[in-house]
Amino acid sequence: MRSSLRDASPRRFLMCPPTHFEVTYSINPWMDPAKPVDLPLALTQWEDLRDRYRSLGHTVELLTPRPGLPDMVYAANGATVIDGRVLLARFAHPERTAEEAVHRDWFRSAGYTELHEPAHINEGEGDFAVTRSYLLAGRGFRSSPLAHGEAQEFFGRPVIGLDLVDPRFYHLDTALSVLDDDGDDVMYYPGAFSPGSRAALARLFPDALIADEADARAFGLNAVSDGRHVLLPQAAVGLFDKLRDRGYEPIGMDLGELLKGGGSVKCCTQELRA
Ligand code: ARG
Repeated sequence: MRSSLRDASPRRFLMCPPTHFEVTYSINPWMDPAKPVDLPLALTQWEDLRDRYRSLGHTVELLTPRPGLPDMVYAANGATVIDGRVLLARFAHPERTAEEAVHRDWFRSAGYTELHEPAHINEGEGDFAVTRSYLLAGRGFRSSPLAHGEAQEFFGRPVIGLDLVDPRFYHLDTALSVLDDDGDDVMYYPGAFSPGSRAALARLFPDALIADEADARAFGLNAVSDGRHVLLPQAAVGLFDKLRDRGYEPIGMDLGELLKGGGSVKCCTQELRA
């Protein structure tokens, strides 16, 4: 048990309000078009997350939502940004391909000059997670294994490919979260990964926080950390004490309406790494 809390560092995030959020198609097991979505509640929940980031001293940039692109709220999928270099996304499902250009235009108008047009399917930070030493990369449901080599070449960081095997955890960010990107600290749910990937994770992160299935089902791994504060779905009750024991300050958020689209805290948050 640690006696002191860790240090936070200020972050810059890109988010997109769920103005046009709805569940009219199903591209992951969480999406049921027959289940109604409470749009005003979705907006309030999303605003709470945005305001929480700001009150913690982080910068939140906004993407303008477009009608007909209900999944735009999951801004994490639109790109991966490291050292100001932008690997744009290429979506697996046609329902989301029009989001690619919206992100590209945002980065251009925001003054980013190093943009990489992907040759292979990658769903941004849905499947890429940045630690101090590595770029962890999920595959199996969305991002192509070929995108891993492409990312390694563009970012010049060793990519660790991880095989996702449970359709409920279709993106890496539903199964693993980086807690401290200075210290290579992560939390993950082993059941989401193939045996070989599990072994690789155990070797790279022997001290990782291990989440159980109930916390993974509550989307507890879909978290955002600034090195100290960890924002995560409040329903992932089993993770709170484990995080406190490691010197983090967990902050429970309710994004219940956005969970109906198969996303939560992290999915709504793309990190713009300077
Ligand atoms: N409905 C979206 C999809 O299936 C949810 C994306 C969630 N985003 C994430 N980063 N896991 O693509």
